[in-house]
Amino acid sequence: MKSGFWWGAATSAFQIEGARDSRGDSTWDQFCETPGKIAGGHNGDHAARHFEFWREDLDLLRLLGANSYRFSISWPRIFPNGASEVGAGGLEFYDRLVDGLLERGIEPLVNLFHWEIPLWVKPEESILNGDFAKHFGDYAGVVAGKLGDRVKHWMTMNEPNCLIGDGFGGTVHAPGYGWTGQKLMQAQAGLLDAHHLSCSSIRKCCSGAQITVALAGTVVCPVDPTAEESAYQATFALDTPTHWSFSLYADPIYSGEFPTGFTQAFGFDPPQVRWSEESIPDFTTLNLYSGTRYTEGGLLKAVPGAPASAVEWPVVPEILYWGPKFFERRYGKPILIGENGLASMDWVTLDGDVPDHHRIDFIRRHLIELKRAVDDGVNVIGYHHWSLLDNFEWQEGYRKRFGLVHVDYETFKRTPKASFFELAKLIKSNGIGL
Ligand code: BG6
Repeated sequence: MKSGFWWGAATSAFQIEGARDSRGDSTWDQFCETPGKIAGGHNGDHAARHFEFWREDLDLLRLLGANSYRFSISWPRIFPNGASEVGAGGLEFYDRLVDGLLERGIEPLVNLFHWEIPLWVKPEESILNGDFAKHFGDYAGVVAGKLGDRVKHWMTMNEPNCLIGDGFGGTVHAPGYGWTGQKLMQAQAGLLDAHHLSCSSIRKCCSGAQITVALAGTVVCPVDPTAEESAYQATFALDTPTHWSFSLYADPIYSGEFPTGFTQAFGFDPPQVRWSEESIPDFTTLNLYSGTRYTEGGLLKAVPGAPASAVEWPVVPEILYWGPKFFERRYGKPILIGENGLASMDWVTLDGDVPDHHRIDFIRRHLIELKRAVDDGVNVIGYHHWSLLDNFEWQEGYRKRFGLVHVDYETFKRTPKASFFELAKLIKSNGIGL
């Protein structure tokens, strides 16, 4: 890869921190308490106890050879009870974390929002009446004011389409409202406004800040060159009414305009969103896990028994070639792979190791495709594996494992898996040999 390429891993606060008693409650705490929502009735109260073990976790990142780490800030840790009161110890925790990263030669990429909304924000009203965006903009200003002297790379939010599609529209993620139609679209607009106001706050507090937002979705990969144009169009097509389309979020973020064809697809006019040049990401972050394959004849059906993850996502490594290529073409910005990883059922063997060979193969196959994109001239600036640690996997509870490092949820012992050492080797050689 190019020199200065970011090699690292990503995590999120609710999924790893634990220490619920030292933060305010969020929509995800409430959701976990709703019977039947989370496998095994699990919750984020302990997660991987990163709040306690953060030094050990940063040492693991150093052992991996990472030069970059994406983590998220827990909004309810900064503002536990309301807009006027910054919580004791929350900012200090992240302050120490940032210093700990810099001491280890690791560049922090701070994500302000990975879906846990403080309960006092009352999203059922505030996402519709503009208060959510206002509170979020203020929160961004407080965090950037504290960390902006050392943190230059900021992510306003993770996968807004997942929060809207699964959380406001669906019922499988918090807050689980099941909204539809214009109301759901208004919620999406409220979230896009929050992106805009947080960009303004960050840019105000932190000169030279590089801002991004993580986008997720399905990349449609052409299997032959003649299908490239149709696959590109299909990747950005409007997907109604599920709110999962890349373009439904990225177009208004990059240009202030919803995609052409919106009114026809949804049956009503697009909402207004707050936007200015400040809202435009400086680089595009893509969280890519899965994709589909396409020929001129249409989408290819996966062969029965084809490789798939433990959450049943088909393994389609070309997403790391076509995703960066298509996004660079459409939005013109450098590309970071912000998440890419495999859910599986790993355990510590009698020998004391975790031989996750399928994850090694997953990583190699995906990085070979990413390298192909780089060799073809796509400006890819980094790769963050999801995830550093096994963690609370949302509706799956603790039963699906995404980590490079195994976490024992009784003892909280960390055991680097075989894939950790393989990725460390690839990082050390800067991808030579892929
Ligand atoms: C990403 C999220 O979409 O996928 C992560 O940003 C999540 O938070 C990861 O853990 C795995 O997804 P899922 O849907 O299996 O929980």
